[in-house]
Amino acid sequence: MKRPPFTPEKSCLLAVALSGLIIGAFLLSHLIWSVDNISSFGLCSLASAKARAAADYEATPIQLQSILHYATSKIVPQQSLAEISVTFDVLKTRSPCNFLVFGLGFDSLMWTSLNPHGTTLFLEEDPQWVQTIVKKAPTLNAHTVQYRTQLQEADSLLKTYRSEPFCSPSKAYLRGNYKCKLALTGLPDEVYDKEWDLIMIDAPKGYFPEAPGRMAAIFSAVVMARGRKGSGVTHVFLHDVDRRVEKMFAEEFLCRKYLVKAVGRLWHFEIPVANVSQSGGWFC
Ligand SMILES: C[S@@+](CC[C@H](N)C(=O)[O-])C[C@H]1O[C@@H](n2cnc3c(N)ncnc32)[C@H](O)[C@@H]1O
Repeated sequence: MKRPPFTPEKSCLLAVALSGLIIGAFLLSHLIWSVDNISSFGLCSLASAKARAAADYEATPIQLQSILHYATSKIVPQQSLAEISVTFDVLKTRSPCNFLVFGLGFDSLMWTSLNPHGTTLFLEEDPQWVQTIVKKAPTLNAHTVQYRTQLQEADSLLKTYRSEPFCSPSKAYLRGNYKCKLALTGLPDEVYDKEWDLIMIDAPKGYFPEAPGRMAAIFSAVVMARGRKGSGVTHVFLHDVDRRVEKMFAEEFLCRKYLVKAVGRLWHFEIPVANVSQSGGWFC
């Protein structure tokens, strides 16, 4: 068979095809290199950001335990769904945060679970009740607290506290303030050293004359809130406001002007940091 003659046009075409091939190979290798780099820098960092975001929403061990507990328990927290939702709405915007709860009970696992990765600390007056609850949920952060008041002293405490300078808004403090009976003096250091974003007052007991009553819890909550160094208000929730003493002490220390919500037997206050220039007045 006779081979076709090799003309200059053909050699020109071959040269164009060869240089096209070389340029194509170069572009392809560059493309592969770029994709490699995008995946090792760009896409991977995107992936790790996604993994981090997913980890933020991963259930914590106490949340899993909480699901199991409430799915198998016939005893539910004493607050109603509407009342619990008031605090839950704030937790959704502030969590992870510092949440101090007066009272240990069937709601404790729930409060801890609604503040994942935050600090939720419980103060309880009854050491046996602490044992009962903590035996079932050992990871709860709970402390026993001793109160120096009794419910039957509520009226006289309200009448006389203004004559004790260390109960006044400008001088009141908590740790070691033995002169002011309304100050909670013997709390764990963690309570004094932390700034609390939310404070729930659902204890101590306040339904018989010898019970501690909530007078000191209310007073101490407002002293903590007013003394806050960080920015923002402190959310204080008070339960059982259908009772005379809770209502009286709320009006004296937490103040009507700071009441932002009332649902069922729960009042929600937003307490601002104390204004030093107003320190001559009383709490409200
Ligand atoms: C209003 S209760 C707090 C209840 C809690 N918020 C709840 O939903 O379970 C106030 C105090 O009553 C006591 N208390 C509540 N339930 C109790 C129980 N079943 N047995 C013994 N003491 C209890 C605890 O001392 C608790 O701090």
